Order: sequence, then C-alpha cells, then structure tokens
Amino acid sequence: MLNIRSGKTSRLACAVLLGTLAITHFAKADDRTPGVTHASVVTAEGSNGMVVTQDAAAARIGVDVLQRGGNAVDAAVAVGFALAVSYPRAGNIGGGGFMVIHLADGKDTAIDYRETAPAAIDAESFLDAEGNADPHKSRDSALAIGVPGTVAGLALAERKYGSGRFTLADLIAPAAAMARDGVALSENITDGPPNILARLARWPSSAKIFLKADGSALSAGERLVQTDLADTLATIARDGPAAFYDGLIAQKLAAAVQAAGGVMTADDVKNYRAVERSPVRGSYRGYDIIAMPPPSSGGIELIEMLNILEGYDLARDDAAQTLYLAIEAMKRAYADRALFLGDPDKVQNPVARLTSKDYAARWRATIDSEHATPASAVRAGDAIDPEGRNTTHFSIVDRFGNAVANTYTLNFAYGVGLVADGTGVLLNNELDDFAAKPKAPNAYGLIGFAANEPGPGKRPLSSMTPTIVLKDGKPFLVTGSPGGSRITTTVLQVIVNVVDRGMSIGEAVASPRVHNQWVPDQVFAEPALAPDIIAALQARGDKVVPQRPFTSAESIMVTPEGFVGAADPRSAGAAVGF
Ligand code: DON
Repeated sequence: MLNIRSGKTSRLACAVLLGTLAITHFAKADDRTPGVTHASVVTAEGSNGMVVTQDAAAARIGVDVLQRGGNAVDAAVAVGFALAVSYPRAGNIGGGGFMVIHLADGKDTAIDYRETAPAAIDAESFLDAEGNADPHKSRDSALAIGVPGTVAGLALAERKYGSGRFTLADLIAPAAAMARDGVALSENITDGPPNILARLARWPSSAKIFLKADGSALSAGERLVQTDLADTLATIARDGPAAFYDGLIAQKLAAAVQAAGGVMTADDVKNYRAVERSPVRGSYRGYDIIAMPPPSSGGIELIEMLNILEGYDLARDDAAQTLYLAIEAMKRAYADRALFLGDPDKVQNPVARLTSKDYAARWRATIDSEHATPASAVRAGDAIDPEGRNTTHFSIVDRFGNAVANTYTLNFAYGVGLVADGTGVLLNNELDDFAAKPKAPNAYGLIGFAANEPGPGKRPLSSMTPTIVLKDGKPFLVTGSPGGSRITTTVLQVIVNVVDRGMSIGEAVASPRVHNQWVPDQVFAEPALAPDIIAALQARGDKVVPQRPFTSAESIMVTPEGFVGAADPRSAGAAVGF
C-alpha cells in the first residue's frame, strides 16, 4: 500500500488526487522535546521502499521504479531527471550536485557532479574595475554559469550502481513524458519573490516557458509544458549522456551562454566529467557518518561539528545548552571551511586532520560552556599545529539495503534564469560559490580565501551535505537539505535531534533550527524557536537574529518496524513509501 503525504497539510488534496491511502503522524510540541515547532510534519511509512523529495510527482516516479524491482540508485536517477521537469526552480539538468550512496554489500561511495568553471574563468573574473568583488557578475550574469554536471552524474550513478533492470532511457522516460505532456502547476513552481520573475524575464527563451505573455507568473492549476526540454531528455535517452556533452545540445548551451555575455564554450562542455569519490567518514556515538567530501564542505564540517559535540553529554543537557554547544561547534567548523577547503582536484584539503577526533578535542578545549566565543576570537586552524528551497534534496531507501542521499542545485531558484534556447535547459549561477575575492561574502554570506578562488576548470566549494548515517553497517538515517550555508548545520541538528535528543524523525526534522557560520557573528534562529531557548542563548552571549526558515530536510529513518520518511514542513514535499 502506498502512503503518500505531502509536507504541508494544504497539500492533502494532492495526495488525494493521487488516489492513495495515507497514514499520518503529526509531530507536535511536547514536554520531552522543548522547542519543537507547532507546524506539523507529515511522515509516511513503508517496509519495501521510501522516497522523500520536495515534489510529489517526482516521488511517485521514484516509488514506481522501486516497485518495479529497481534499487535506490535507479529510483534516484529517475527522481533526478523528474525534478528537472516538475520542480524546475532547483531540480535540473543545467546545474550540478552530489549523490552519496550506501550499497547493500557494504560499499559506500559518492558521485561528484558539481559544475566546473569554464576554462576562461580566472581569479579576476568576478571583480569590478576597482578590483572589488562584483556580485552582479557572479550571481546575475552569464559569467556565473558553471558547466552542468547533472546528466553526467546521474548517468555515472546508473551505469555503476543501478540494478541493471533499467536502462538510462527507461529512467529518463517518465521525466520526458512529463515535460512533453506538461505538469500541473503547484505553488512549488508558481510561488516565489517577484525578483525571480524579473530574472527569468531577462531572456525571451526563459520567459516563453516560465512566464505568461504579459510577463506575469504562471498560475497554480495551469500546465507547464516544456517541449524543448522533452526533446533534450529524449535525445539523452536515445543517444546517452554524450549527446548532452558533445554535439548539438552542447553547442546550443555554449551559444546561449556566450550570447548572454558568458564565456562557456562547447569544449568546456565536452571536457566535463563527473567524478566518483570516497565519501568522508566519521563516527558519532557508535553511528557511522557517510558524507560528501570536497568539493562539498558539508561532510567535513558535519563530522568536525559532530566530533566536537561528542565530548558533551547532550542527552543530559537541556535543549538550550545543546543548541548553544552546537553553535560553538558551528563557528569553529565554518571558520575552517573558509580557510582550508576548495576543489580537491586543484587544492589540498586537510580532510584527515579536520575530521579527526584529536582536532575536535582541541577545538572543544576552546569552548566555554557558559560564555559564547566571539567569532572574531575563532581563527581557522587554531586547533591545528602550524599548518533554502533553491536547491533540492531527496532521500531514498530500498528493500535490498541500498540508500541514496542526493542534493543538487542551480544555486539560486531557476539558477541565473537563462534557458539555453532550443534546449529547454535552465542554467545555473553556481560560480558565485567561489570566493570572488578573499573575505568578500557570497550570496549566503560565506567568505573564503585562496583555496576557493575562481579558476579554470575548478569546482566551486559547496555546502550541500547529502548524508547517510549507518548503524551496525546498515542505513539508519538518510538526510540532507537545500539552504546554502544553512545546509550543513541543518543536517547536524537532524542527527543530534535523533541521536541525542531521542526524537522521532518527524520531530527531528520539524524542530526549529539555529545557524551560525562564523561570519557574520550571529545566530540565525527560526521564528518557531522557543523564547526561553533564545533567552538562554542570549544569556551566554550569542547574538540571536530571527530569520525565516529556508532549509528543508527531506529525511528517512530506518526503524525496527520499517522505513519512516519525513517531508520537512518548511516546504511542500512528499514522503512516499510502500
Ligand atoms: O552548493 C551550494 O552550497 C549552494 N550553491 C547551494 C544553494 C542552495 O542551497 C540554495 N537553496 N536554498
């Protein structure tokens, strides 16, 4: 039986339309979990498979693959292509991302399909005439477009780790059909601030797909038909991923970018490679953490923060003290991110050191349990001897014991807003994730230095943190989130909520979150955070700043009774199990 839930109660109609029976579990605030949001999270159960993603149509496609005998990787590939059609603000084939995979035979691996900078990008590319960082260049212009990695990444995952029951074409087919037939527009597609419309309106090739003739937004209930995208998907299905990277599609992508003032060439596209990498591994109170290595900063930071927190008895501490200590860990891990991390193919990342227990112990020694450390006093590497919705995450498990955590993105909603004419492919503005200049913040306020300076062929440092937590070598928790710099601290809090605070996955996902990223020296707190917790953090010296939620931790927990999927109530996601 299918259990379909969508992340908002307003989405119940959608589940009903899908003709399924649902079992609902509402996480509510209670005495045991102070600070849990009153907004309800909706979960689904199943013992044969589970897909949790930000769009119900894509979730259905993934579950269908599982029901037809596919494994979690097959389902992830189908969901990845589907979201490019049904959730175009973040799902994509014109962007990039990361997939962390746990296989039933015990192997863990990671597919890096992050975008690369075109060969003509260098350390000065995103500076203005005075040598200052120019956010317009790195966020709003075609210079910001990185070579898309999604098609290569999904194809690599399928070729190496798919069940063999499906061809790549089989897994692309549902997405191509949705693009051709149209998808019923939901708020997921139509809502968003007006500046998104303005960004899309800059290019007729984008406006003709995503806007009405008068430039206004398409309305919920209308159908979004993407014929060029359907043709592009059908071509990839027929001729394989090379058809995207070497041939007419690549030429059209490069031509569109250049016509818009960017520098990407067909050769840049042809030279793109997705890379299989070893995940970073950590342990936390007996659980194994399997997470994304550089060019994501997420896995290293997550393990660094968990290692710091492992030295405290969080199960005994109250919610405020737990969050306070987590914030102290965040400051330190984000300082290290800024200084040390970048594309592993271009710079040395001190992975072993940053993820070691000794290193965390030295950081822990600098934490005062009652007085917040000012960010200015946290210097990256001090513990070393001299030396939002615009992304989307999905989690999948199958009955064979495989698990996939996948986060991918165009960076901003709809990326830079440019559809390469004749392809239907919406292009990213991922190169803003480089440090355009030392200390110049990117769109998420993150700063960086030489390790993450722009360079030809280089992958910009990411915060995306798809993560699998194992217990006794088997999947226990699969999670990840959109939200730029907030992603990694979101994953941290989901894990701490489950492992230390004994929450169900629904509660762990719904619980209000905090975030600190070293610079600025502020603790961003979701509005639902309990006033007494805010007061307790302020009493310790943290500057607490309210900020609207823009993460969405689509998560799965494996329990003795079966899989429990939790679609984060912060966005209109879906958990589908069977
Ligand atoms: O890779 C990164 O870290 C960013 N480009 C992700 C952007 C993002 O999550 C936007 N979502 N709200």
